[in-house]
Amino acid sequence: MSFEKMWLNYQKNEKSQVINRFMLGQSIYVCISEGENQENRVIRTAAKELQEAIGDILDTHVDIYEKIHESVDECLEGIILRRTDVLKTPDAYHVKERDGLLSIEANNGRGVLYGVFDLIRRLQCASNLKRLDVIETPDNPLRMLNHWDNMDGSIERGYSGQSFFFKNHELCINDRTHMYAKLMASVGINATVINNVNVKDSATELISSRYYKYLQVLSEVFADYGITLYLSLNYAAPIDLGGLASADPFDSEVIAWWEQKMQEIYTHLPHLGGFLVKADSEGRPGPFTYGRNQAEGANLLARAIKPYGGTIIWRCFVYNCQQDWRDYNTDRARAGYDYFAPLDGEFLENVVLQIKNGPMDFQVREPVSPLFGAMEHTQQILEVQIAQEYTGQQRHVCYLIPMFKEILDFKTYCGQDEDRVSDIVSGRSYGQKLCGMATVANTGNDTNWTGHDLAGANLYGYGRLSFNTSLSAEAIAKEWIQRTFGLDPEVEHILLNILMQSHSTYEKYTSPLGIGWMVEPNHHYGPNVDGYEYSRWGTYHRADHLGIGVDRTPQGTGYTHQYKEHNASMYADLESCPEALVLFFHHLKYTHELKTGKTVIQHIYDTHFEGVSEVETMIQEFKRLQGRIEQQVYLRILDRLEEQLESAREWRDQINTYFYRKSGISDKHGRQIF
Ligand code: GCU
Repeated sequence: MSFEKMWLNYQKNEKSQVINRFMLGQSIYVCISEGENQENRVIRTAAKELQEAIGDILDTHVDIYEKIHESVDECLEGIILRRTDVLKTPDAYHVKERDGLLSIEANNGRGVLYGVFDLIRRLQCASNLKRLDVIETPDNPLRMLNHWDNMDGSIERGYSGQSFFFKNHELCINDRTHMYAKLMASVGINATVINNVNVKDSATELISSRYYKYLQVLSEVFADYGITLYLSLNYAAPIDLGGLASADPFDSEVIAWWEQKMQEIYTHLPHLGGFLVKADSEGRPGPFTYGRNQAEGANLLARAIKPYGGTIIWRCFVYNCQQDWRDYNTDRARAGYDYFAPLDGEFLENVVLQIKNGPMDFQVREPVSPLFGAMEHTQQILEVQIAQEYTGQQRHVCYLIPMFKEILDFKTYCGQDEDRVSDIVSGRSYGQKLCGMATVANTGNDTNWTGHDLAGANLYGYGRLSFNTSLSAEAIAKEWIQRTFGLDPEVEHILLNILMQSHSTYEKYTSPLGIGWMVEPNHHYGPNVDGYEYSRWGTYHRADHLGIGVDRTPQGTGYTHQYKEHNASMYADLESCPEALVLFFHHLKYTHELKTGKTVIQHIYDTHFEGVSEVETMIQEFKRLQGRIEQQVYLRILDRLEEQLESAREWRDQINTYFYRKSGISDKHGRQIF
């Protein structure tokens, strides 16, 4: 087991060897077009990947032969990789076995590469390839990673070491970069942003001659694996880099500066996909400074980049972060919709809005952002966060794919059918082409990439899910376990249980009933009930001696009415509001009886006791794996689980004590509260 290769750590697999005997002694025939081009390069990558995997898993050498187009039809046996016009969708692929002839066909090089990785997955999981016939079409056109890596090598919200893209303000391109590209391509990622969305100070210079050469090399490494490089951008670059007095999108000097800049950038970086922009958010500059709206701001860049086919991805994480906690009318949850929904149709066609899954900020539970379904004429990306900023920081196990599934499956009622978030961001609802998913990445330069070994499941799972949103969280977890830890059923059984219950367990001992935010300010690890209660960030729970929760109904902040019917009434009505979110939408007395028959206060006590005891059980179960997985990995995971337990106890005791002291109501079961 070598965790440096994560799920691509190929082991000789005797079971697969026996089942897929017919592959032994075969050759790979690669069908390329004449001349040197990027498509050929990706297909060559695919062939090499397959050769390596077959070599390791089936323990046999296969040769690669390159053929120009038609001649490949002559092969009667072998493994054929080729482009075909039959499949129309980019990145879709067809893998088929007939009488010893295994073909991987796709409309583009990337599709061929994905077909190869599909085959490799089956080889690792020892499935029978005889008579295989699958066509896979990606659900989302864009399947992105957002790295919040700073150029000094630190990572904002990074929990697995330092950046492997930057060190001391230089770009790093080495074996890890190649392994990264390979891992990401293997799960269908086709775009990545390598630098932090908060672009300030010297990071603005990434778009200057000092870095183009290195960025170009990096973009080629990525391109060979079908991954497009994007960068984050400082909206004030005309001032900070260009020395202008303004960054006003209507200022002719600013317009000319961006036009010239984009031309310069694309002369040096022809493969660049475009830019991700965080504007007017948490202190970052943006169009609001000049009295312009978000569409006017985004369109400035979109116009300048258009001649080069580039895309502007504009984040909707815009809210007032200078709020007065005494103010009960301003509601941060409303901000995204209030700023963006009225601008539907005003963004140019190469602008995509990137919307966080919830209206706040990656809490363990939030409702889905009401912006999904509110902008029929605007291209949208769903942004999630696998960096576990609020979900245990990769020290607690928290498998996020079940939560992402719930988000994708959420019905917005924006149409008769095809109205789920997954329909909107895939382009099914409104026929959009530039849309999909992005995640804040959880990688760093730790040997195992993700700090917690089990956090690798989130990286793997995000990729698989963004390619195929109908896969179940459980099926993805199983695959990941088999590919990472091998085929021992006991290992699979225990790890699967741990992963599948981990989000619910984390939710139980941290934040009850959708309240969120009871964390230590700044670093966001560990409990602090009032940490954000009297601050400027707009993240309040409003707990007093009688009750807790935020009234977001029409009698309160009115947030519920940003949803379409029937969601608006469902959330506004206490009877129909899903209980997991009840304190997000309603202020309730501690004595209020929930549908379970428990009072709010008793629910808080019970879930916190349960959460801790679930972590205890997890540890007991995990210990049964000693000797079944590599000792070093076993000890690393155990160490994290023990830290999780300690932290969970701290959460339980602080939360329960806080609410006991506030409410004066004892635990019905007389357990110890301090
Ligand atoms: C959160 C996070 C910040 C980040 C921001 C964002 O607020 O704590 O570190 O910059 O999200 O998404 O831009």
